[in-house]
Amino acid sequence: MAAKIRVGLVGVTGYTGMELARILASHPSMELVRATSRSEAGQPLEALYPFLRGTGLGGLIVSEPDPADLAKACELCFLAVPHKAAMETADALIRAGLKVVDLSADFRLRDKAVYEAWYKTGHTREALLSEAVYGLVELYAEEVRRARLVANPGCYPTASILGLAPALSAGLVETGDIVIDAKSGASGAGRKAAVATLFCETHDSFRAYGLPTHRHTPEIEQEVSRLAGSDITVSFNTHILPIDRGILATIYTRLKPGADADTVRAAYEDFCGDKPWVRLFPAGTLPETRWVRGTMYCDLGLVVDPRTGRLIIISAIDNLCRGASGQAVANANLMLGLPVNTGLDLAPMMP
Ligand SMILES: NC(=O)c1ccc[n+]([C@@H]2O[C@H](COP(=O)([O-])OP(=O)(O)OC[C@H]3O[C@@H](n4cnc5c(N)ncnc54)[C@H](OP(=O)(O)O)[C@@H]3O)[C@@H](O)[C@H]2O)c1
Repeated sequence: MAAKIRVGLVGVTGYTGMELARILASHPSMELVRATSRSEAGQPLEALYPFLRGTGLGGLIVSEPDPADLAKACELCFLAVPHKAAMETADALIRAGLKVVDLSADFRLRDKAVYEAWYKTGHTREALLSEAVYGLVELYAEEVRRARLVANPGCYPTASILGLAPALSAGLVETGDIVIDAKSGASGAGRKAAVATLFCETHDSFRAYGLPTHRHTPEIEQEVSRLAGSDITVSFNTHILPIDRGILATIYTRLKPGADADTVRAAYEDFCGDKPWVRLFPAGTLPETRWVRGTMYCDLGLVVDPRTGRLIIISAIDNLCRGASGQAVANANLMLGLPVNTGLDLAPMMP
């Protein structure tokens, strides 16, 4: 049996780090040999995550995030840390010859000035921005295969871009009137303690936040503009749901003259046909977060409203798996020459 590829994970104590550990515990071709945290260094992973007991990962001792140590031990490293914390580590690891999948936003925006305006911080590794590949595997698989650095897409952008891609690529909707009304479970905000995501603040209530300045806006605009071939400004509005994981985006577009329910469905069938992780729901049925929980699926439902001339797209993903860690493993698979779905044929976590 071929030796497994040695990989590292910076930020194992976060929600996306936890999800990466879950997926890597049963990956047939990758072995997690380093998992880092500044606050939990020295602990065995199974002490943090009892669900790893009895897997090969339970006894792995969490280490400090030391780029020199990671470079010696690993061929590829996942960075599951906040933006700004990722950029210098990514640079150090790439200089040491590693491949890097960065789950933060540090390399997603091609334009440094746009990053600095939306993230309100300086970008210190501009040279890497031009070589980073945006890791949405349905759109950029070839580029990802050749990449040293992949910018893993954000969770909301994954749901929004995949939902809009067929309509925009086929030129079926107006580009000037797109509204993305998106809702996320509370794990989307990360695991750090914050009043806004305490149980009593989120349970049994529903609220909007971050309007109209959510940081995922320029990322969505960058990618949908590329698909449409012209600059698009979207109205992107975010809400927090009283659930732990899952995103549902309801995307309102206006059909161009001549486009109707049949042309729309044909375009979506054509787009989804060779993309097993994008599931188009039959007419009259709509996606839900629970059908994608813990999976790589992006479920799409379509509603054409002849009274308003609107195409409404419903897009559902799991923010932690498809929107972060599963997508990161898909990118790593491609970068390491493995089939994209290696270790990712994950059934939904039910109920
Ligand atoms: N949550 C989601 O649904 C989601 C989806 C897509 C993308 N993302 C992105 O993925 C990244 C991780 O998100 P998350 O939700 O997992 O965050 P999180 O729950 O807040 O966890 C952050 C992790 O990073 C470590 N860390 C923080 N600052 C660090 C530093 N300066 N150097 C080294 N390690 C550091 C933390 O551990 P220690 O403090 O112990 O070191 C922790 O393990 C973020 O950039 C986020 O935007 C998140």
